[in-house]
Amino acid sequence: MQDIDALQSEILAAIEAADSLDALENLRVAELGKKGRISGLMKGLGGMSPEERKTAGPALNGLKNTIGDAIQTAKDTLENAALDARLAAETIDISLPVPPEQRGTLHPISQVLDEITEIFADMGFTVAEGPDIEEDFYNFTALNIPPEHPARQMHDTFYFNEDENGDRKVLRTHTSPVQVRTMEKNKPPLRIIAPGRTYRSDSDQTHTPMFHQVEGLVIDEKTHMGHLKGCLDTFCRAFFEVDNVKMRFRPSYFPFTEPSAEMDIGCTRQDGELRIGEGDDWLEILGCGMVNPRVLEHAGIDSTKYQGFAFGIGIDRLAMLKYGIPDLRAFFESDLRWLRNYGFRTLDIPTLGQGLSGGTV
Ligand code: DAH
Repeated sequence: MQDIDALQSEILAAIEAADSLDALENLRVAELGKKGRISGLMKGLGGMSPEERKTAGPALNGLKNTIGDAIQTAKDTLENAALDARLAAETIDISLPVPPEQRGTLHPISQVLDEITEIFADMGFTVAEGPDIEEDFYNFTALNIPPEHPARQMHDTFYFNEDENGDRKVLRTHTSPVQVRTMEKNKPPLRIIAPGRTYRSDSDQTHTPMFHQVEGLVIDEKTHMGHLKGCLDTFCRAFFEVDNVKMRFRPSYFPFTEPSAEMDIGCTRQDGELRIGEGDDWLEILGCGMVNPRVLEHAGIDSTKYQGFAFGIGIDRLAMLKYGIPDLRAFFESDLRWLRNYGFRTLDIPTLGQGLSGGTV
C-alpha cells in the first residue's frame, strides 16, 4: 500500500509538471498504456494469493482511476488554454474601416426589388409570397391552364418526379400562382405585389434558368382597365425616374386574364445607348390584363361580385434596362469585378423622396 501511495504521488506530480499535450500523452502511455507501469502491476494481481488480491485489487483500481481522471483533467485544461490562445490570436478588430476594395455591394436585383417595392408600397400595395417549389394546380390549373393546355408548352417547365399519387410538383415558372394563394387566404379588396424567383429551362443572353418576376394583383368590386393603365404608368415614371413615359398596350393572350395585354414603353436606341420614355422604338416590359373570372372562381371568390387586374413584370429585364447591363447571365456568376461595378451602396435604401437610385457605387 505504501508503494501504491508513493507511486500515485509521483505520477500526480509528473502530470502537474507536464506542460504540453504531447508530454501528457507520453505519461499516459508510460503509466496506463498496455506496457505501462500500472498495467504491469495489474497483471501481477494474477500471481497473488486471494488474501493479497483482496486489498491490492481495489487499491490498484483506485490508482488507475485517479491517474486516468487526473490526466483527463490536465488534458482539458491544456486544450482550453490552447483554444483561448488561438481565439486571442485570431480576433479581428471590427472597428477598423474596411478598405474600399473589400467592401460589399448590393446586387442590382436586390436594388431593383427594393425600388419596385417602394413604389408599389406608396400606392398602397402589400407584399405577398409563395413557394418556389409549387404545386401543378397553383402554377397551371388554377390559372386556367388545365393539363394538355398548349400554354403549358410555352413555359419550359422544370418538373419534379411524380409522388405516390401521381402528382408532380414544379419549380414555379412565374409568380402568378401567388395570385391564387393570396385570393384563397384573404378576402377582397386585395392589393398585393409578389416578387420572387421563377424558373424555366432556358438560357441565352437575355434568359437564365432562374430569373425574377414581380406579380401584381388588385381585386375589388369596381377596378377596371383604366386603373390598370394608371397604376402601370405611375410605376414606370417612378421607376425610370422620368416625367413622362410613352406607353402602349398591345392585345395579347394569357389564360389567366381576359382581356390580356402586353405593355411596351417608348425608347430610342442610339450608338448602343438606350433611352427610356421617348423616341419611336418600343420595348416590351410586362404582361397584364383583367383577372379571368375562372381564376377568381378557382380561388373561391365570387366573380359576379368581384373583378380586378393583374400584371407580371420581369425584374431582371428592368434591372438590365435601367442600369445598362448587357448580359443577363452575368447577374448570377458571382464575379466580384462585376458585382463591384454594378453593385449599390448597402446602406442607401431607395425612397421616393430622396430618389430611388441614389446609391450607385
Ligand atoms: N405570368 C406571365 C408570364 O410569366 C406574366 C403575366 C402576364 C402575369 C399577365 C400576369 C398577367 O399577372 O396578368 O409570362
